[in-house]
Amino acid sequence: MDGTTPQMFAIEKSPNPVAAEAREAILANPGFGRVFTDHMATIRYTDERGWHDAKIEPRRPLAVDPATTVLHYAQEIFEGLKAYRLPDGGATLFRPLANARRFRKSAIRLAMPELPEELFVQSVHALVSTDRDWIPSGDGASLYLRPFLIADEVFLGVKPSHSYLYCVIACPVGAYFKGGAPSVTIWVSDTYTRAAPGGTGEAKCGGNYAASLVAQAEASREGCDQVVFLDAVERRYIEELGGMNVFFVFEDGSLQTPPLGGTILPGITRDSLITRARGMGLTVREEAYSIDQWQEDARSGRLREAFACGTAAVVTPIGHVKGKRHNFAIGNGGAGDVTQRLKDALIQIQLGLADDPNGWRDRVF
Ligand code: PLP
Ligand code: COI
Repeated sequence: MDGTTPQMFAIEKSPNPVAAEAREAILANPGFGRVFTDHMATIRYTDERGWHDAKIEPRRPLAVDPATTVLHYAQEIFEGLKAYRLPDGGATLFRPLANARRFRKSAIRLAMPELPEELFVQSVHALVSTDRDWIPSGDGASLYLRPFLIADEVFLGVKPSHSYLYCVIACPVGAYFKGGAPSVTIWVSDTYTRAAPGGTGEAKCGGNYAASLVAQAEASREGCDQVVFLDAVERRYIEELGGMNVFFVFEDGSLQTPPLGGTILPGITRDSLITRARGMGLTVREEAYSIDQWQEDARSGRLREAFACGTAAVVTPIGHVKGKRHNFAIGNGGAGDVTQRLKDALIQIQLGLADDPNGWRDRVF
């Protein structure tokens, strides 16, 4: 299998897809991550055969032996990207090749086989095309795609698996935060860190998220929506949120975001916003910023806005920051001008409502 033609996905249509009326009711109010489309894409890998058996098949439970490697040692990676309904009724993906590249890099870090980037993109195209009726068109709605790769050898020895299952599932989604929150409150974790130098912070592997949950639970107990992690070495510098990157906006209109350096997920939204902001004539620095400085700047007014960004959350203003040693509001607690302008610019490109100078849209049909 050379991974060059979409036709290589054998298509088995679901014998009992969700009825049109029930699907439309779901699409009108999809929530996030609880309802799924009728099909999934799958590709198998073994050391002997390489990547093979690419399929679009009815979405169904996976049969896994209790001794399957991934259940014990978490050899797993995933991605998240969205398909958007275009004004002419077609559909587009946003930078799927960037997700394919990150998926390959995550695979290398987790000692997994690298899925060819064209095959990743084709799998997503094939699924979106098959489940095209599931792409919502409402405000802030899209079809969220979740490609993932799991080690499926049945063996309890600690070593890279010899066989893997790649799968893509899809779900219609609305806003990630309940009620499309105008701004979120974040909790500074003093106790837990997310990633240390040499660890897996820049890989999108399930283990990173498992390790973040206790901090996220602490955030919820403290009445916050998300947790923000500090660097593991000095416990001073802002890294990122549990599932989003972070930006700061200053009184002179410049932006700053923590630099990538192995411990932060290189977000595609982050990269897109840096490019768009610079295209709009704004200054963007990729420089470390400490939590104490953030508090001081927010209180003095030097810092005007802050926002979180990612595929699921798009651009979400941060209104308030709390922690054991910190407590401060940002600006007026809602979306600032720069945040709103950047968010609008990004969404307009994603929805096909603005020019796409960087060629980020990838039309599916
Ligand atoms: N950081 C983490 C830990 C994430 O899970 C995500 C979401 O994918 C991001 C940042 C943002 O990445 P992207 O913009 O590629 O979705
Ligand atoms: C995404 O934005 O795609 C994420 O992966 C964040 C979260 C849903 C895990």
